[in-house]
Amino acid sequence: MSAFEYVDGELCAEGVSLAEIAKRHGTPCYVYSRRMLAGAYREFDGAFEGVPHLVCYAMKANSSLAIVDLFARLGSGFDIVSGGELARMVAAGADPRKAVFSGVGKSDAEMEAALAAGILCFNVESASELIHLAAVARRMGVRAPVSFRVNPDVDPLTHPYVSTGLKESKFGVAFADAPALYRRAAAMPSISIRGIDMHIGSQITELGPYREGAGKLLGLVDVLAAEGIVLSHIDFGGGLGIRYRDESPVAVGDYARMLRGLVGGRRETLLFEPGRRLVGEAGVLLTRVRFVKPQAARNFAVVDAAMNDLLRPSLYEAWHAIDPVRPRHIDPGLWDIVGPVCESGDFLGHDRMLALEEGDLLAVRAAGAYAMSMSSNYNARPRACEVLVDGEEAHLIRRRETLAELHAQEARLP
Ligand code: LLP
Repeated sequence: MSAFEYVDGELCAEGVSLAEIAKRHGTPCYVYSRRMLAGAYREFDGAFEGVPHLVCYAMKANSSLAIVDLFARLGSGFDIVSGGELARMVAAGADPRKAVFSGVGKSDAEMEAALAAGILCFNVESASELIHLAAVARRMGVRAPVSFRVNPDVDPLTHPYVSTGLKESKFGVAFADAPALYRRAAAMPSISIRGIDMHIGSQITELGPYREGAGKLLGLVDVLAAEGIVLSHIDFGGGLGIRYRDESPVAVGDYARMLRGLVGGRRETLLFEPGRRLVGEAGVLLTRVRFVKPQAARNFAVVDAAMNDLLRPSLYEAWHAIDPVRPRHIDPGLWDIVGPVCESGDFLGHDRMLALEEGDLLAVRAAGAYAMSMSSNYNARPRACEVLVDGEEAHLIRRRETLAELHAQEARLP
């Protein structure tokens, strides 16, 4: 159940009023619910109870330290995609031995840092990467644990920018090339083969693509086993969608049942890399209406959050629900909710039926995933603060960036 509910005509996060948070910390501000974060993790993890498995939260969705720490305390592993994310998980106190390292372009330095930290596995995405990784591991006198991310060529039926499992995609190695790559890796003394991996896309709302991808992946596991290449884990990636508008997301229970059925009595540990599903609905972006600008052609409500705080509408034409924190009982109108950034593409929502006045607070829903983590300083805007609500308590987990911090790394010519 959502932790963002109206109590006495006012939108709250668990037991805390959003208006109170805005008053204390200002806007724009991301607000998260601990109950929803923990609930989403437990639901996912619990669905695989009884089978050896590890949930590796894809921290790119939201890598704020308090959130990484929260998942780590629940026992989560992590899917990381950079040395920066590795450093973040270590800073949050998470165990790098539960990390899988994905991504098509890992640098030698990132490989070295991950080997030194003793991560669980590298999800290798090309022959070139394998060669580099083997060389780095050899220099360090260690063996690099490896999975190949295989591209099963299935259509995840989602936005083209977040489809990754089609054969045209830059991600993964071609299905047909995988056996030869495994053979090659098996002959490398500084490589230790551990598993196999896929990730077919994001915001997936149907089971079919998973069934097809997982079926192909398991077929490959059998082909490898017949050659004597035995794996200790199978990583099904992430991608489970959430409800932004009227989508019917796949129930985690159905996803788990389907995969458990396909996996049958296999003994490999199952790995998962959910991102959005664990954090997306657990956050809102709180913003205040600065000006109302009714015009002949369109009505604009200019709010203090912008595309630099939530890029998804501008980048993917993503739809996020926008709700008033204190609904007014006046006639509603159709509003475009736009930010102060100097781009026509700077909008949070178009044609929203809302009863609005200057100074009103709005909550942009499902802003827990790919919001703060994709934020920028465009237009020299400091990044917003973050608050994590736990019952009756609201904890500031990231203070608002200061203007001084925006130029702290820069230098002028002498
Ligand atoms: N594993 C890998 C290898 C990934 O590349 C991703 C996401 C995930 C797991 C987690 O996917 P999720 O469960 O969150 O769907 N910025 C876009 C989403 C990009 C996803 C990139 N990769 C958005 O805002 O919709």
